[in-house]
Amino acid sequence: MIKTNGKRLPFDPAAVPLDFPILSRKIHGKPLVYLDNAATTQKPMSVIMSMTAYYERTNANVHRGVHTLSQEATSLMEESRARVAKFIGADDPATIIFTRNATESINLVAFAWGRRNLKPGDEILLTELEHHSNVIPWQMVARDTGAVLRFIPITGRDGFLDLDQLPKLLTSRTKIFSITHASNALGTINPGGRFGRRARAVGALVLVDGAQSVPHMPVNVKALGCDFLAFSAHKMLGPTGLGVLWGRRSLLESMDPFMGGGDMIKEVWTDHATWNDLPYKFEAGTPNITGAIAFGAAIDYLERIGMDRVRAHEIELTGYALQQLKERFPGIILYGPADPRKRGGVVSFDLPGIHSHDVGTILDREGVAIRAGHHCCQVLMRKLDISGTGPGQFSLYNTREEVNSLVRSLEEAERLFGAGVR
Ligand SMILES: Cc1ncc(COP(=O)(O)O)c(C=O)c1O
Repeated sequence: MIKTNGKRLPFDPAAVPLDFPILSRKIHGKPLVYLDNAATTQKPMSVIMSMTAYYERTNANVHRGVHTLSQEATSLMEESRARVAKFIGADDPATIIFTRNATESINLVAFAWGRRNLKPGDEILLTELEHHSNVIPWQMVARDTGAVLRFIPITGRDGFLDLDQLPKLLTSRTKIFSITHASNALGTINPGGRFGRRARAVGALVLVDGAQSVPHMPVNVKALGCDFLAFSAHKMLGPTGLGVLWGRRSLLESMDPFMGGGDMIKEVWTDHATWNDLPYKFEAGTPNITGAIAFGAAIDYLERIGMDRVRAHEIELTGYALQQLKERFPGIILYGPADPRKRGGVVSFDLPGIHSHDVGTILDREGVAIRAGHHCCQVLMRKLDISGTGPGQFSLYNTREEVNSLVRSLEEAERLFGAGVR
């Protein structure tokens, strides 16, 4: 594996797909066009190799052994933790907690912080854009504590938040504001930093769900001004089964563990125990060692390209896709901001007369993988009064030619179903 330690290399968008073995696959005899990146991204060879190399040469449990393999595994995992911290602008690697995914990271805050600190009448502020992973944990905690959920509404199909409602919704009763940085369903990007300042003014904490922003644009916890940031490795070229929670040190120190078991304790008696230091207090049991190490390789790959160039590439593709879809399908309904600079690389659409699942199935026959349905955002779908959309999301390995394949496949769907598209 090439380790470049974040040194930028030339970015050639046409060459990037060659680093991803799966992208040479054919689906139903057609070249794979993978646009389901909001669900999970594909992995470059360096990430795959890093996992293989770990099992071939290093495999051992971490933090427990005095033997060489255990020490090597521990230092590889801790190197990765430091790399993740640097990637999001955090000064202290001990504030990076490895979890299973963004969902677990949010649950960790909801249960370890929320259950202890919320009381009847306190308010938890969310938005109508949220993924179920940032709704259900808060519903569960609200039920247990008597806290109340509030939602910032969206203004319409563009998915912008109705900020006129903010003074009414973000008040001294608000104890935590948990908000997605970028919507997986519409692409809308929320002004994270501004919310951080407004929340602090009323004494509320801010959790940013970065599952769809950290993989696609430069994200810095200091600039966001948030208290917690949650994201998943598998959505940013890394392996499944590994998530991250970053939190302010003072807050993490004030919280009790979320789960109990090995590695999260200092000392144990029959009737009580004392907790380990950060980050291990929140990492009960054997962690996903391979995943954490391979995530380091994924970050190395992203840094070699540079998140600013990843973002610029995705803006370019999104703008091209929106323009092509509007030109080719005058009846198409597009969701999310019209300006590609105000959205992540998500293209969310509805072809009137064709169910999003039918669109997805026809596209699959053409080798084009998109997601269809409610995208784990039923609050949003209810607001828009639709059952689902057919979005694709771009990643750094997608190309203009793949946008053309998407359009050609949609023309095929239109030919088969006809109704109302033009
Ligand atoms: C905005 C957002 N938040 C949270 C999640 C949950 O991510 P994971 O399933 O990796 O926990 C997703 C997954 O699609 C997402 O898009």
